[in-house]
Amino acid sequence: MPVVDVHTHVYPPAYMALLRSRGEVPYVRSFPDSPNPMQERLVILPAEDTASTSRGRPIGPEYYDINQKLAFMDTHSIDISVLSLANPWLDWLPADTAAKTAQEINDDVNAMCALHPERLYAFGTLPLSAKAGDIVAEIARLNTLDQMRGVIIGTSGMGAGLDDPALDPVYAALEAHGQIIFLHPHYGLPSSVYGPRAGDYGHVLPLALGFPLETTIAVTRMLLSGVFDRFPKLSVLLAHSGGTLPFLAGRIESCIEHDGHLHGQPGFKSRRSVWDVLKNNVYLDAVAYGKAGLKAAVEVSGADRLMFGTDHPFFPPLDEGQEKWMSVSTNEQAVATTFDGDKEIVDAVMGGNAVKMLKLVKTSS
Ligand code: URA
Ligand code: ZN
Repeated sequence: MPVVDVHTHVYPPAYMALLRSRGEVPYVRSFPDSPNPMQERLVILPAEDTASTSRGRPIGPEYYDINQKLAFMDTHSIDISVLSLANPWLDWLPADTAAKTAQEINDDVNAMCALHPERLYAFGTLPLSAKAGDIVAEIARLNTLDQMRGVIIGTSGMGAGLDDPALDPVYAALEAHGQIIFLHPHYGLPSSVYGPRAGDYGHVLPLALGFPLETTIAVTRMLLSGVFDRFPKLSVLLAHSGGTLPFLAGRIESCIEHDGHLHGQPGFKSRRSVWDVLKNNVYLDAVAYGKAGLKAAVEVSGADRLMFGTDHPFFPPLDEGQEKWMSVSTNEQAVATTFDGDKEIVDAVMGGNAVKMLKLVKTSS
């Protein structure tokens, strides 16, 4: 059974060129007065655009050179990767250039994958700042690109979140074309929640807590607005094992059941429960870095809906000499210990589920 990585990012050449051409977030540039003036840095959030966070993070070829992705896969015995553009995707593009840029980036990534046909697949990128018709057209076009297996989107949707009724034609097209949404956080929580000393704590609070809570809130808004009632066949792969959704599912369901305001609404009686959606619409990556998170994920969605991922090229070893990444082995070990080494289930989570769900060609290894 091949090992498949469903959570692995790339900034293809067309996207890098865009980032390098910009002077405001998101952008890539070097800083002549920094300790390493030649090093390019990636700045993707307004909160990172300050000297106190050393302006984002260093960015090197591991973010855009596909040979480095393949070398990473070899080092970690990963047979197949399903690439996705990293955040913040095309959310920030002006409406009039978004559709064309999405086409260029999707073609770029598809061509990259086509050079390695049984090793690389991808989730496409949508021009979410464009008109719904343009987004729907790109979804249809993605179906004609051989290596594409769904789409990656953030939580802002077309600007008003994923509970925005303006997204209905987009959800309808994704459902009709059988394209899974890989839902990934980017915006986190308002920085005020991290307090006045947040700058002392590096990126830990936004990455460890802001990201997962952002995902949890986004999916809960989809549930509350009836997206899964209107589009019962829509599939969503949630980054980072669903944020905190598996852990909070019972509380969310209970709050819905005890809310007098919701009880009075049309459709309330026939609404699908959080549990139903988790078992039938939701897939979860296994990027939880521990058994407790994975156990919760399996409990709510089932082991057949859990898929291994790495989040490469984020979370590299800080000690440059290390070939194997601790972030990867922590997730591998979490899968092994969650299923007590049950080989059949471990193989499914490490690759079999993704092969089946995303219709990936099996490799001979
Ligand atoms: N992982 C991601 O995918 N994006 C980030 O910005 C950080 C970690
Ligand atoms: Zn990621």
